[in-house]
Parts: sequence; structure tokens; C-alpha cells
Amino acid sequence: DKLQSFQEEFITWYEKEKRNLPWRVNLDPYRIWISEIMLQQTRVDTVIDYYYRFMEWFPTIKDLAEAPDERLLKAWEGLGYYSRARNLKVAAQQIMTEFNGQMPETIEEIRQLKGIGPYTAGAIGSIAFQIPEPAIDGNVMRVVSRLFEISDDIAKPSSRKVFEEAMYKIIDQNRPGDFNQAMMDLGSAICTPTSPKCEECPIQSYCLSYQNNTMTNFPVKSKK
Ligand code: ADE
Repeated sequence: DKLQSFQEEFITWYEKEKRNLPWRVNLDPYRIWISEIMLQQTRVDTVIDYYYRFMEWFPTIKDLAEAPDERLLKAWEGLGYYSRARNLKVAAQQIMTEFNGQMPETIEEIRQLKGIGPYTAGAIGSIAFQIPEPAIDGNVMRVVSRLFEISDDIAKPSSRKVFEEAMYKIIDQNRPGDFNQAMMDLGSAICTPTSPKCEECPIQSYCLSYQNNTMTNFPVKSKK
């Protein structure tokens, strides 16, 4: 059916085009977690070097839980938003004491960790554990808003559930992590804010906003 062709074409595109990023070499939940926290406020190109060094200095959750604050902040220097680093250490300690040193494997438990909100829980759950949970950031909201011509204001917290519902309908149940990362890659490389490269888009034929030439009307975002 149509949904299945959409998913197949999209995942095939991702397989072909995906970048070799250091957090894509395996599905270690610790590695996925660190990458997603770093990527929240920092660009992929900047994150890469920090990521390699972080993994060298703190190769396991236990190392992070026991990290001297000074060394941890040194590892984060230049990335900004230091609360992210402090939260990482607290969460690592939670994992050691409450989850037997292993990243928990349900969305509800992952959400209990310090510094982990719906986006990060969805990313870790889908990529590391194949849970069909969306990971909705700004890029993904832009893609989804165009795909379905969703006019809900992305600046309003109450719109979140609209985008979640849309994602639950289309996420690939067998490959949710690849599906979410395909959305992220599409949003950063093709479905860009001002001049989306629709002629290169693997899901062009499924996109309402491409059909109606309304790409630049989406997403709807109120000024603060
Ligand atoms: N941005 C946030 N998470 C990402 C991921 N896993 N891959 C690429 N870009 C991302």
C-alpha cells in the first residue's frame, strides 16, 4: 500500500545517502545518548571532534558517573550549555544506582533520567532499542508540517501532540531508528527552512505541500 511504499522509498534513500557519523557505527545506547545530547544545541560538524574525545575520556556509563567535574567541563568546553554536561553525569549516576549500570530499555524509564525529554527519549528508544517512538525536533517538525500541511504553530507546546500523532501514523515499525534519522537528515539536507530542494526529495510524491506548492508557508511559527 501507499504507506509501505513511502516507508520503503524513504529508508532506501537513507541507506544510500546517510552520512558515516561516529554515533552510527553501532547501536550502543550510551553512544546514542551522548550524541543526541551534544546534537541538541550544536551542529553535526562541530559535534564530531567533541564526540570522539568524549568517548575516549569516558568510554562507559560508569566512567561518566565517576568523572571528575573538572575533566567533564573540560570535555564540554566550547560546546556551551554546560547544564547538559552536568545533567549527563547525574543521569549516568542514576543509571548506575537505579538501573544496574545499564541504560533502561523503555521510553518511560529513559524519560526518568536527568536531562532527557521526549525528543532524546524517542531518539534513544528508537535508534538503540527499535521502539517505534518519534524523535521530534525542529527539523522533523518542519518536514512533517510540509508533508501533511499541518498549520499548528510549532512554537506552541500544545502543538507537539499533533506532530506526534502524525509521526506515529508514518513511522516504520520495523526500523524506527532509521526512519527517525532519515527525517533528521532530510530536514537538514533537503527540506531546509527557506529554499527546500524538493527536486532532490525522496518523498516528494507524498508531500502535500509540494503538490500544492505551499512549502514556504510551513511550518507555521508565531513570533515570540
Ligand atoms: N541530529 C540529532 N540527532 C541526529 C542524528 N542521530 N543523526 C543526525 N543528525 C542528528
